[in-house]
Amino acid sequence: MSRFNILLFLTLTITTISLVTSQVPPEKQFRVVNQGEFGEYITEYDASYRFITSPNASFFSRPFQLLFYNTTPSAYVLALRVGLRRDESLMRWIWDANRNNPVGENSTLSFGRDGNLKLAESNGRVKWQTNTANKGVTGFKILPNGNIVLHDRNDKFVWQSFDHPTDTLLTGQSLKVNGANKLVSRKSDMDGSDGPYSLVLDKKGLTMYVNKTGTPLVYGGWPDHDFRGTVTFAVRREFDNLTEPSAYELLLEPAPQQPGNNRRLLQVRPIGSGDGTLNLNKINYNGTISYLRLGSDGSLKAFSYYDPATYLTWEESFSFFSTYFVRQCGLPSFCGDYGYCDRGMCIACPTPKGLIGWSDTCAAPKTTTFCSGGKGKTVNYYKIVGVEHFTGPYVNDGQGPTSVNDCKAKCDRDCKCLGYFYKEKDKKCLIAPLLGTLIKDANTSSVAYIKY
Ligand SMILES: *[C@@H]1O[C@H](CO)[C@@H](O)[C@H](O)[C@H]1NC(C)=O
Ligand SMILES: *[C@@H]1O[C@H](CO)[C@@H](O)[C@H](O)[C@H]1NC(C)=O
Ligand SMILES: *[C@@H]1O[C@H](CO)[C@@H](O)[C@H](O)[C@H]1NC(C)=O
Ligand SMILES: *[C@@H]1O[C@H](CO)[C@@H](O)[C@H](O)[C@H]1NC(C)=O
Ligand SMILES: *[C@@H]1O[C@H](CO)[C@@H](O)[C@H](O)[C@H]1NC(C)=O
Ligand SMILES: *[C@@H]1O[C@H](CO)[C@@H](O)[C@H](O)[C@H]1NC(C)=O
Repeated sequence: MSRFNILLFLTLTITTISLVTSQVPPEKQFRVVNQGEFGEYITEYDASYRFITSPNASFFSRPFQLLFYNTTPSAYVLALRVGLRRDESLMRWIWDANRNNPVGENSTLSFGRDGNLKLAESNGRVKWQTNTANKGVTGFKILPNGNIVLHDRNDKFVWQSFDHPTDTLLTGQSLKVNGANKLVSRKSDMDGSDGPYSLVLDKKGLTMYVNKTGTPLVYGGWPDHDFRGTVTFAVRREFDNLTEPSAYELLLEPAPQQPGNNRRLLQVRPIGSGDGTLNLNKINYNGTISYLRLGSDGSLKAFSYYDPATYLTWEESFSFFSTYFVRQCGLPSFCGDYGYCDRGMCIACPTPKGLIGWSDTCAAPKTTTFCSGGKGKTVNYYKIVGVEHFTGPYVNDGQGPTSVNDCKAKCDRDCKCLGYFYKEKDKKCLIAPLLGTLIKDANTSSVAYIKY
């Protein structure tokens, strides 16, 4: 054998040995079946749930528990729940493995010698897996922070649920430009599959989008904030050097500065200052177990768990659309499908005949009305003075300067345009393919023209 071949032979041998030694030992393997009784307590989404157990693994790490739940018969999702029975507070679902691919009765969750964690139908068809077969995985565990991990023999994570967020970030969990870069809302309480709202991290910032028309529209977030590629949801003590109990802060932290520059922990940080950390709120207890969620209505809220409490242990600790942050009327779904919103209240339903009392049947015009007739059909508009579109603040009120007639002509031609918003003051034109909640603002020169 040449020297090269000997080297190759040695390398292969070593690789083979390390593959052979890096397997899941029998006492850590498991196979659990989704069958049997349902749990008796009420959980979020009014879901039914089934515990899973194995002598070889624990699916509980206080207050987190991995189990199956379903909101419609025979469509189960493997999920992580947070909360304890004694809390007398709704237990929350904070991570789903297979939200777009539910499994049926007698499906199995298995973790075999090869280290792949997989969820299969009773007929063996795999519906979800970690794709970690033969990658050196030696064990499975749920960490006290709610991270489900598959680790190797050096306790290095080969796979972790923190890298696969659904609609929720737990404290310590991050979004990464080069990785899992978004949260996606559920469709509804009943339907846990991907919904229209997303919170996306890119190089420009952390942006909330609604995609109901095929074109994602910005409606919130921090679109022009430099997170240096990573944003972490964190809870920290306000001052790290005090011994007596102090306040805790809910933060969105960017990736650390270069070593030496990171003085964050020693600073008092007003909102949005310093190294780019965003302070969402202050709470007066250790809210280490908190989560940030993009709701099925598009809301972005944090909830914190107050462990010593014996009941009502969850508290809403931050809300993006609120009296203390961004105006509530800015949430596109705030007034349901359509509505006129003033200072946090849905006060009217705009119609061609004027404003009438709001109810949840208030509906925007349908795009199909303006496309099916096609050419030659005249388009009418009704006018609402002093309202802004939810996307206005993020797109600088649209394009311009342009004339109101050109703005109208643009909407006339575009059968996806439901109406346009024209700002007399700076002659800005915003074409709206989605209406939702119209924000009344006494000081705006913005006028809405809605098709009918
Ligand atoms: C659980 O561990 C035992 C060894 O302690 C092993 O014989 C058994 O196969 C494991 N169970 C499963 C389902 O893999
Ligand atoms: C699930 O398996 C059990 C046996 O373990 C069987 O009695 C039951 O009928 C199965 N359920 C369904 C829906 O296939
Ligand atoms: C928006 O939704 C449409 C239709 O559901 C989809 O095809 C498109 O990929 C979505 N766009 C983004 C950026 O998510
Ligand atoms: C503790 O924090 C206070 C307030 O920020 C500061 O004035 C003081 O120097 C700090 N003490 C130490 C030991 O770091
Ligand atoms: C908060 O409480 C947890 C669990 O009780 C503890 O591990 C953690 O160190 C505490 N955090 C702070 C900042 O005090
Ligand atoms: C309108 O502007 C004035 C002066 O800038 C301000 O005092 C008032 O609060 C504003 N009103 C609203 C509804 O924003």
